[in-house]
Amino acid sequence: MSNIKEHQTMNYDTQMLSSSEEDIEKAAALLREGKVVGIPTETVYGLAADALNSTAVSEIFKAKGRPQDNPLIVHIGEFSDIYKYVTEVPENADKLAKAFWPGPLTMVLPKRDIIPMTTSGGLDTVGIRFPVHPVAREIIRRSGTALAAPSANLSGSPSPTTAMHVYNDMNGRISAIVDGGDCAVGVESTVVSFDKDGRVRLLRPGFVSLEDIKGIVGEGNAVCAKGVTEKISDGEKVLSPGMKYKHYSPKANVTILCGTIEQFTKYVSAHNGDRVCSMIFDSDANGFPFKYITYGDTSEKQARELFAVLRSLDDMGAEQVYARCPEQTGVGLAVYNRLLRAAGFEVVNL
Ligand code: TXA
Ligand code: MG
Repeated sequence: MSNIKEHQTMNYDTQMLSSSEEDIEKAAALLREGKVVGIPTETVYGLAADALNSTAVSEIFKAKGRPQDNPLIVHIGEFSDIYKYVTEVPENADKLAKAFWPGPLTMVLPKRDIIPMTTSGGLDTVGIRFPVHPVAREIIRRSGTALAAPSANLSGSPSPTTAMHVYNDMNGRISAIVDGGDCAVGVESTVVSFDKDGRVRLLRPGFVSLEDIKGIVGEGNAVCAKGVTEKISDGEKVLSPGMKYKHYSPKANVTILCGTIEQFTKYVSAHNGDRVCSMIFDSDANGFPFKYITYGDTSEKQARELFAVLRSLDDMGAEQVYARCPEQTGVGLAVYNRLLRAAGFEVVNL
């Protein structure tokens, strides 16, 4: 059953743009005018608007159907721009930026007043990210501002990793979409905040892994927030508003099955049906007796393919999906975290 609420109709004539210099300039011009544009990044496509323009930012919320208390990430084009938007850069933030920027890491820091409350979802902090994708960087540079950009999907749907995914969700809802090819990472950026004592708290796992972060700040100086692999109960206080929403869901009911491929096959055999589809690893496919779709083998490949696979399950008309449980270390933790949300935390230990 779809958890996606009805989305308000909108009537934009959405332009499809390439990543030629001329088209990048068109996209930047639209952004300067306060319009919303779908842009490629190395993680997933983003729905960008001028982060400092509250009216433009509220159009992003409308296009996505996003709850207004869920803050947006602000994308900068130069390392030093961080000082324009935050009041303080703790030592560990500086170390992480030096190690992983530009790249798929977002740091939540105390915001300056120049960032409107619409952008920060009413919080006094802001998530800052310096993406590495050359098209994203050029669009930010030419827009002459910082860009607020959530993932470019309708709220609740899997994040888009191709321009066509963005088109499917956003045609008629935004001014333009820039096609920059398939996203190399495939899952959204790693999000971290900093405790008062400077300790790094992982709010959302991504390509920059907890292990990578510990490698920079030291083993004892980085921890995983509650909510990354556990369900947050209704009314419980969360460090990141995104944690409390159901996410990434195909229409089908998804169940994660943890165990060997033999145990998995036995379980599916006992629960099979016309509209059942298994999500298995590439190496499981040979001889697998039921309807399936593969989602990679290495954690990196799983990350790249996960959202496209979740979208194809809808196209296949699947009603029940059984997914093999991914690794929970390195980039695997990001894959597991997204799949857990797609599954509404339904996990069966075989
Ligand atoms: O890779 C990405 O980060 C992509 C691309 C487009 O850059 N963007 C993205 O944005 O994933 P979005 O809005 O889909 O996810 C942002 C996440 C949400 O879970 C939000 O709650 C959290 O980051 N977040 C943003 N600002 C925050 C803040 N000030 N405090 C805590 N969490 C924050
Ligand atoms: Mg998102």
